[in-house]
Order: sequence, then structure tokens, then C-alpha cells
Amino acid sequence: MADIYKTITKDHDHHRDILNRIADTSGDTAKRRRLWREFYRDVKAHAAAEEETFYASLMTKTWGQDKVRHSVTEHKELDDIMDELQDMDMSSPGWLNRFKTLHHDYVHHIEEEEEEVFERA
Ligand SMILES: [Fe+2]
Ligand SMILES: [Fe+2]
Repeated sequence: MADIYKTITKDHDHHRDILNRIADTSGDTAKRRRLWREFYRDVKAHAAAEEETFYASLMTKTWGQDKVRHSVTEHKELDDIMDELQDMDMSSPGWLNRFKTLHHDYVHHIEEEEEEVFERA
């Protein structure tokens, strides 16, 4: 499964980069919209692919199941925040607040995948 790790980590690096770039924008601008759209689309596809391939295979191993459940729960939580942000006014302080939560939680999630889930797998 060595290639899976590389592919996933490459995606994660890309997501970290977009998050930092969004954090550097302010208000409802074309740049923020473009970066947000890219993040939203990429992360949804990434999480779906992760669940269909990586986590589905890990789920068949008893030693992998607790990690899978934990990660999939986080996917759902992150997904909810992303949908919330999608429906909010980008120029509002509320958007930035929620975005900061997403930024923090998403980075935590991918670090956990890289450090704990890959380790276990
Ligand atoms: Fe994930
Ligand atoms: Fe991931």
C-alpha cells in the first residue's frame, strides 16, 4: 500500500497549502472564493476516496477498526463545518471564525492520519 500513503500525503500537503492561503485572504474576494471552492471540492473527493480504498481495507482488520471509526467520524464533522461555511457570507466575522475552527480541526485530522493511522496500517 506504499503508494497510497504517498498519494494521501501529497493531497494533505496541498490541503495545508490551500488552508494557509485562504487564511491570508480577507473578505468576500475572488481569490478567497476560488481557493475555498478548490479546497471544498478537493477535500470532499479526497475523503470519499480515502473511505472507499484506504479505510475500507483497514476496516477488514480488527486492529484497524477503532482508528477507522474515529477518522470517519471526523470526516463527518469536518464535512458539516465545510457545508456550513459553504452557506455563509464569506465577508462575515462568523465565516472567519468557523474557518479557523475548520483549519485547526482539519490539520489535526490529517496529522493523525499521517502519524497514527499510517503507523498502524
Ligand atoms: Fe481523512
Ligand atoms: Fe486524508
